Amino acid sequence: GAEALREQLLGRIRDVPDYPQPGVVFKDITPLLADPDAFNALVDALAVLCARHGATKVAGLEARGFILAAPAAARAHLGFVPVRKAGKLPGATLSQRYELEYGSAEIEVQQDALAPGDRVLVIDDVLATGGTAEASLELIRRTGAEVAGVAVLLELGFLKGRERLSTALAGAPLDAL
Ligand code: PRP
Repeated sequence: GAEALREQLLGRIRDVPDYPQPGVVFKDITPLLADPDAFNALVDALAVLCARHGATKVAGLEARGFILAAPAAARAHLGFVPVRKAGKLPGATLSQRYELEYGSAEIEVQQDALAPGDRVLVIDDVLATGGTAEASLELIRRTGAEVAGVAVLLELGFLKGRERLSTALAGAPLDAL
């Protein structure tokens, strides 16, 4: 069940203190990725969410989001759309700038990757402040596609990303496994 999965996944996420800077506790998912049972269970659970929310496409957020979103898309038999950091995608792109704690960042999607009629599930590893996911939802809507939801492995509740995302979600589900 959901609780057993949660225990299995949490048991394979490692806290790394003072990384990448002093005072920050980094959530390292590499032990989970290295465990075939846990990784497979995670990909299965993400594929179930694709079906439950009626997704027709899966968008992954660079870079760690790709590791989860691509196999989930393939398992759900859906196309995968990369949302990349600016300057990495060829052809016509849409870009979205968003604010970080210090400074700003920019992500892009290819203009022809999504269109009206698509329902997109956004997958990432971690929801922290929600800035990246929020910008991805703006991008997706600008293509004319609909947002099926956001699914993450881990939500850092104390950073209130769920609150920041709520307007952009516009009622679409946010699942944290
Ligand atoms: C991390 C993480 C999420 C984002 C969450 O990515 O993988 O994409 O930050 O933070 P937020 O909710 O505060 O926006 P990062 O930018 O470190 O990129 P990476 O996956 O390429 O390492």
